[in-house]
Amino acid sequence: MESKSAIAILCFIAVQVSSSNVTTVYDFPEKFKFGVATAAFQIEGGWNEDGKSPSIWDTGVHEQPDRIDDRTNGDITSDSYHQLDRDIEMLIELGVQFYRFSISWARVLPNGDVSSLNKAGVDYYNRLINKLLENSIEPMVTMYHYDLPDELQKIGGMTNPQIVEYFENYADVLYSNFGDRVKLWATFNEPHEYCNYGYAKATYPPFISAPGVGEYLCIDHTVKAHASAYRLYKKKYARKQKGKVGIVINGAAPFSRTNDTALIERALQYRFGWIAHPIYSKLGGYPEVMVKEVGENSRAEGRAWSRLPHMDRSWKQFIRGAADFFGLNYYSARYIEPAEKIAGQTPSWENDVGIKESVDPSWKKAKSDWLYSSPGGLLKTLQWLKKEYNNVEVFITENGWSDDGQLDDDGRIEYLQDHLRQVSQAIKDGCNVSGYAHWSLMDNFEWLRGYTERFGLYYVNTRSPGRTTTAKKSVAVYRDIISSRQV
Ligand code: NOJ
Repeated sequence: MESKSAIAILCFIAVQVSSSNVTTVYDFPEKFKFGVATAAFQIEGGWNEDGKSPSIWDTGVHEQPDRIDDRTNGDITSDSYHQLDRDIEMLIELGVQFYRFSISWARVLPNGDVSSLNKAGVDYYNRLINKLLENSIEPMVTMYHYDLPDELQKIGGMTNPQIVEYFENYADVLYSNFGDRVKLWATFNEPHEYCNYGYAKATYPPFISAPGVGEYLCIDHTVKAHASAYRLYKKKYARKQKGKVGIVINGAAPFSRTNDTALIERALQYRFGWIAHPIYSKLGGYPEVMVKEVGENSRAEGRAWSRLPHMDRSWKQFIRGAADFFGLNYYSARYIEPAEKIAGQTPSWENDVGIKESVDPSWKKAKSDWLYSSPGGLLKTLQWLKKEYNNVEVFITENGWSDDGQLDDDGRIEYLQDHLRQVSQAIKDGCNVSGYAHWSLMDNFEWLRGYTERFGLYYVNTRSPGRTTTAKKSVAVYRDIISSRQV
């Protein structure tokens, strides 16, 4: 009897060992940081309080409320301006190591210029930063998340070259007021989006329609402003403050059904490279393919080259290498194929790319019409960044899932787990990924979609005065991933 049960025990152990051999453990190194992300306009409210002036989003949405699906706006949103303590409680409950939030330029410098420093605005962010640090949560600050002070739009906003200097001065104010405690700075969030929608397609404030011009100028000034803020930090603050400065770039991962690697590369250069190549590549300047097709070299082929501004040698040198990390916002992927250019069509970045996009029927779709889950695309993107930009340090500054806001958010849980597994895999493959911020801490104003699409780990009740929040099912899941460092 005894020997029989001994054999049974041995067999049981053998089965356990062999089955554990096949289970891959997706874990994260000790120094990897987990976080969540938000943005000022989407969560703060308090749009005209204590000296804050309107941003282009305040003005745009007030003047044209029909642009927003549910006619909501940024006046109150998730009420973080008044409920900072509650935000901290949620962050503590999650156990995050860092919190990425943005500073509202118009709250700190109401007319956009340093002459208008608003003490109440500075106090608000000081309170937030201090409370984060008291709770061992590291702040990561985005300086610009779509909400340009309206005063600066009066001089053309991101299409006026003077914006470079305004932004540098604004960055100076942020470093000098907060840099003793903030060590992670992201200059701009998703230039692609605010430049194309805001200055070319007229769907985001300031609703300017100038396709083929506006988006190219806006990105040119963004890249220069970013580099100016970076160089300023290195010159004036880095030695004492010892922080890092990067920029946040987004894009869908391109796949090809015909394995057209050249097309994939072209798409990546037009998508990420437009902003990243000048900053992170060895050579600097805009991507070769863009210079050839829509920049100065296209002149040799008999076309006008005014769309992609010329970047002269001194700017090239100034911008090249101007970042300590790469902020990646990754949500989705696309299959791509060459699209025929339609003769006579208005020139625009989208036509210039000349690519048709589709999705895979097996990819799960979120509430947002553009968001399909393709975790493999995240791994591919991280591998491309590693190869293209010399294994640059990457923070995943956003990744998230939208739904109706239900508390049983199984879709979000699956998306979170699937994507984090790919991050773990990327790290094992040698990608230099330092952190992951889930979008978002709580439901918030999803731009043109208002509150009809919700990305939060916490539900926000927009009908209750003072806004109440409730943890969705995903909170416990993310908390466990963070504390076990495993998914
Ligand atoms: C990226 C943007 O940075 C953020 O503001 C937005 O809410 C999410 N994507 C979801 O669309």
